[in-house]
Amino acid sequence: MAPGAGRDNLRGMSPRSKAPSIDLAEFRSHAKDLVGKMTLEEKASLCSGRDFWTTQPIERLGLSSICLTDGPHGVRKAAGTDFTSSAPATAFPTASALACSWDVDLLYEVGQALGREAQALDVQILLGPGLNMKRSPLCGRNFEYFSEDPVLAGRLAAAHVQGVQSQGVGACLKHFAANNQEFERTTTSSNVDERTLFEIYLLAFEIAVRDAAPWTVMCAYNKLNGTFASEHEGLLHGVLKQRWGFKGAVVSDWGAVNDRVAGVRAGLHLEMPSSRGYNERRIIEAVRSGALPEARLDELVIELTSVISCALRERKPNVGCDLKAHHALARRVAGESMVLLSNQHFFPLDARRPLRVAVLGQFAKAPRYQGAGSSQVKPTELGNAYAALLEQTDGAWQVGYAPGYLADGSTTDALLDEASRKAQAADLALVFAGLPDSYESEGFDRPRLDLPEGHDRLIQAVAGAQPNVGVILMNGSAVAMPWASRVKAILEAWLGGQAVGEAIVDVLLGRVNPSGKLSETFPERLEHTPAFLDFPGQAGEARYGERVFIGYRYYDTRRITPLFPFGHGLSYTTFAYSGLQITEASAAEGERGVLRTISVNVKNTGSRAGKEIVQLYVSEQASRLLRPQKELKHFAKVSLAPGEARELRFELVARDFAYYDVRLNDWVIDSGTFHVLVGGSSRGPLLTESTRLVVTRPYPPLTRESMLKDFAEHPRSKAAYAELLHRLIALFTGTTDAATETPDQRKAREMAAAFLSELPLWKLPLMSEGKFTEKQLDEWLAKVG
Ligand code: BGC
Repeated sequence: MAPGAGRDNLRGMSPRSKAPSIDLAEFRSHAKDLVGKMTLEEKASLCSGRDFWTTQPIERLGLSSICLTDGPHGVRKAAGTDFTSSAPATAFPTASALACSWDVDLLYEVGQALGREAQALDVQILLGPGLNMKRSPLCGRNFEYFSEDPVLAGRLAAAHVQGVQSQGVGACLKHFAANNQEFERTTTSSNVDERTLFEIYLLAFEIAVRDAAPWTVMCAYNKLNGTFASEHEGLLHGVLKQRWGFKGAVVSDWGAVNDRVAGVRAGLHLEMPSSRGYNERRIIEAVRSGALPEARLDELVIELTSVISCALRERKPNVGCDLKAHHALARRVAGESMVLLSNQHFFPLDARRPLRVAVLGQFAKAPRYQGAGSSQVKPTELGNAYAALLEQTDGAWQVGYAPGYLADGSTTDALLDEASRKAQAADLALVFAGLPDSYESEGFDRPRLDLPEGHDRLIQAVAGAQPNVGVILMNGSAVAMPWASRVKAILEAWLGGQAVGEAIVDVLLGRVNPSGKLSETFPERLEHTPAFLDFPGQAGEARYGERVFIGYRYYDTRRITPLFPFGHGLSYTTFAYSGLQITEASAAEGERGVLRTISVNVKNTGSRAGKEIVQLYVSEQASRLLRPQKELKHFAKVSLAPGEARELRFELVARDFAYYDVRLNDWVIDSGTFHVLVGGSSRGPLLTESTRLVVTRPYPPLTRESMLKDFAEHPRSKAAYAELLHRLIALFTGTTDAATETPDQRKAREMAAAFLSELPLWKLPLMSEGKFTEKQLDEWLAKVG
């Protein structure tokens, strides 16, 4: 990946939802003045933190320190590394939950609330969101990432950033890039081919950088194709800054710096946490010895000073925030994010009907509601589903409870017997299960797809004792469900934040109509997952052998039926789609880069108000390169009253049809037929219409290294190619006249054509025994190349 490589011919992906509130460029001239007054020592000192969470101040020049802290779903303001000391903050649902809302406005609201709490706690940069792709369901940190799809992850991340930054607090996209596992995360090399990088692993970052202008980006711990992300010039300078126009500062992941001077060259502005002078001295020595041009350091320090100056201007000391309102928001968001995976007319339950209900599983009283590791916050309050059920059914239900399993996920025969007895004596059972902290966390990956054995056994035992069972899951990533067909309903509640208990009950009782849809595939079994053979890698290498075929792109193309597909999620109402139409863009739309407009009608055909997530996929037919069977390009969440219908419109721009061509370092479209598929799940039903695009695409330069057949693709050399091939066949085989040739001659001609067309030009003189000379080759190339 060469610095600055690529021209990005096809700009414009998703429409910006909200304009970034602050332009960092405003601070550049002030920063330039300040840096002009700094000594070399002062400049070097700014490139590393003061301690664990703050930057170095330069008081002499009036530049104070700023505070950076975790994290994506709540503000974890701690003193040093004593995380138990962190100030209480609202624990919002984690990214895997948030993403299932598919709701950019909601993400913006969460971002705003996080920004307000950050201001109240005097934090200037909030370390999140995490937008790495979910390459395998086993990544221990999937709970902190949005999706297996880069468009969904990128658009949600952009909204999160815009929300945080609307409050004058900087966001930080992390972890850049290809940090998709926890195993050996500080040393492993993610080895990813360039097309896969641009189409999958960089795309979410690209969308968020272009649409939301984050103040900071955090580089990952891992190496990318052999070079540490913290010193990867092609990545930090070439792609992030030159190609995408990033104006902010790159912060290292905590302890991700390898060679600090290489980092300065590559575009890493700030090392965190402080290396206590060690790396400052290396920068100073490198400048003094001439190994590092001071101008390069200056440029970096100007950019970093712009971010610090912006953060200081926006700082609002002593503002408060309404934590009660944030708890209510956390509850609403959790309800919007839950996914009703299956439902045989079981939910919603009637709160007024006298029912005997067995509530089983410790998570009902002690919910798993947030991730483990750096994103863990001390919640301002914490509800649980058991208490919320009692409260919301107001004495109408007789509720029994049994823990069912132990905190470590194991169980005993006695616990199972107790739960089965309670289930048998009730009208219905609700089983709360999921992944305990020790099963998924930052710092290690999951060894298995399964729930803890105790949770699986509990569900199986209860299903054997009671026909009416609903399962409520609390976990941060996809899990296997060998019992799925034995229960009446499954609600995926995720790590739903501090109000998850109340929110679950809102959904169970139908006070909230579930509207979440999966942002990741739930595979039937681990062996079906795309990276099964390559995750998490070995001998220092994580080889991305499945290439662009991540998540549903893989399952669809390989025709593997998952347990629950990407985009799936049920509601208490039903929706019908009709009238899908593709229209050529008008001249005015074309000016804005629009190629096609899509319209479709969605109707609420049930008897309850509900929200539908409309998904639009594009699929190229007969593509030149192998492409995923279909890819998500747009989505919208629409709220409909019973019987209400709405027409939705989407605008498709060039990038919605394009793929990344490594020969051009750019996105290209080939002329051809594309299907547009619209519906409420990746596995349908999907309405399908097709459209033909005729485009003039750029072609890679034709050289002596090009194969003869490459000349056939280019309109300019097509005729010359045919003529040369004919001539060469004659030279090689002596046959020229297709009309009079014998069957043997025809065979020989066809074989020669196949053989010759795949030779690079430079080989022709060598292989033709002097019949086609170097000089003839040069002349031909000069004519057509
Ligand atoms: C994590 C980051 C986090 C940082 C600071 C690192 O270990 O990877 O996501 O922001 O610590 O806590």
